[in-house]
Amino acid sequence: MKTLIAYFSVQGHTKKVAEDFAKEIGADTFEIIPQEPYSAADIKWTNPVSRCNREKFGKKDVPVSGKVENFAEYECVYLAFPIWYYGAPNIVNTFCKDYDWTGKTVNVFATSGGSDIGKTAEKLDPYLKGAGVSNAQVVKSSFEITR
Ligand SMILES: Cc1cc2nc3c(=O)[nH]c(=O)nc-3n(C[C@H](O)[C@H](O)[C@H](O)COP(=O)(O)O)c2cc1C
Repeated sequence: MKTLIAYFSVQGHTKKVAEDFAKEIGADTFEIIPQEPYSAADIKWTNPVSRCNREKFGKKDVPVSGKVENFAEYECVYLAFPIWYYGAPNIVNTFCKDYDWTGKTVNVFATSGGSDIGKTAEKLDPYLKGAGVSNAQVVKSSFEITR
């Protein structure tokens, strides 16, 4: 099964897990990179007017750099990201809206500061045209990912 791991990571935790997992299962990767990179100040959620709070509470799209080539060829896609505000960061929603997910198996793994997966999958489903999340989990390392 041709598998893609599409991941977003600002502080490097999710990137490490995603890259390790891709090597273990022989999957392709696509890093979801914002057109405007996040600075340390941008992700200070303790500041009410920081970028992350404005995006979250303004329900803003976050434009992504580049596109996945040959997206149609992948039968299975893992979406990986840090839990932000008990769910996926807005950029992941923006990424998902750009593709047709019909017929694909979609799995999610996330890193977090302690939150569980909660309703992350349910919140992501509306952005996955033609599919839905099959499995979602918070992990600390690639060995914990259901495969
Ligand atoms: C804007 C923002 C919101 C966050 N919200 C949560 C949260 O709701 N629950 C939680 O456990 N961790 C939260 N975190 C912590 C991250 O999920 C955690 O540090 C994650 O491992 C970072 O992944 P990364 O290194 O791939 O960016 C938040 C971090 C940021 C920057």
